[in-house]
Amino acid sequence: MTEVADAARADAAAAAIRHHYDIGNAFYRLWLDESLSYSCAMPESPGDTLESAQDRKLRHHLSAVGADQAESVLDIGCGWGAVLARGSRTHGVPRLVGLTLSDEQAEHVRSLALPGVEVRTESWVHYRPESTFDGIISIGAFEHFARPDDTPAAKIAVYREFFTRCRDWLTADGTLSLQTIAYGNMRREQASTFMQQEIFPDADLPTLAEITAAADGIFEITALTDDRLDYAWTCEQWARRLREHRAEAVTLVGAETVARYERYLKLSALGFRMGKLGLLRIVARPYPDTFFQRRSRG
Ligand SMILES: C[S@@+](CC[C@H](N)C(=O)[O-])C[C@H]1O[C@@H](n2cnc3c(N)ncnc32)[C@H](O)[C@@H]1O
Repeated sequence: MTEVADAARADAAAAAIRHHYDIGNAFYRLWLDESLSYSCAMPESPGDTLESAQDRKLRHHLSAVGADQAESVLDIGCGWGAVLARGSRTHGVPRLVGLTLSDEQAEHVRSLALPGVEVRTESWVHYRPESTFDGIISIGAFEHFARPDDTPAAKIAVYREFFTRCRDWLTADGTLSLQTIAYGNMRREQASTFMQQEIFPDADLPTLAEITAAADGIFEITALTDDRLDYAWTCEQWARRLREHRAEAVTLVGAETVARYERYLKLSALGFRMGKLGLLRIVARPYPDTFFQRRSRG
């Protein structure tokens, strides 16, 4: 990618993110759990609570990167800081960096005043860390990296750039814990235009094949699961909570926006139930040989 094309992509992505996330923290607070996790939870059973299922998800990723021993953890796409908060308060990680494209999310994380935490409104595309990390976590951000007009080859190139950066930013025995939605038995052409244009404009989901092609030779995948039913459950929980707070939500963002979110949550739950969408959880570590072939850090 050229620097200009790079910057244009990053600007378009940032605008799309603001479209979705900067409609107000108060709105999301009505239907997300207390930690404001805005990604698939890990319920133990259908009767689980959203709070404990989100907590289990955070534990999964933090334990995957060895947070108890880690000196430093990077969260790419940190949202409202659930990973950073748990990493700081429970695991006592001395240095945590969170990247988000949303100003409202960054301000919220700063307001938590978490020891050791730095939050930046910056894309991973532009980020240049001063030193390496023991772990990198990225939950629900990978979905935003490719654009609708990208060819499969262009998508793989962007994902490969992401994996290359992550490898360069990790210590030799560091770990990447990634969670992303992916196309299941559906392709972009079959996706709903409502979801593409109204909810996540300027984004395209990966396929598992694109992810593995992009990581090939860079990361060794040590665990991979498709937990799509976890996301169907999570969307159903969110939809129920939004329904329960409908009147407050309408006051905050208007009836049209609430109806849009209700439709989006319903369609998403259905997509995950039917296998049109998957939810990939991937744990990976840099190949030992590629660690010694890192690009020099700029
Ligand atoms: C669905 S939210 C998930 C937030 C959080 N990880 C969680 O689980 O609650 C997606 C996050 O990815 C961030 N994001 C998307 N593209 C990004 C990029 N290129 N660089 C950094 N952050 C990005 C968004 O700003 C947002 O914080």
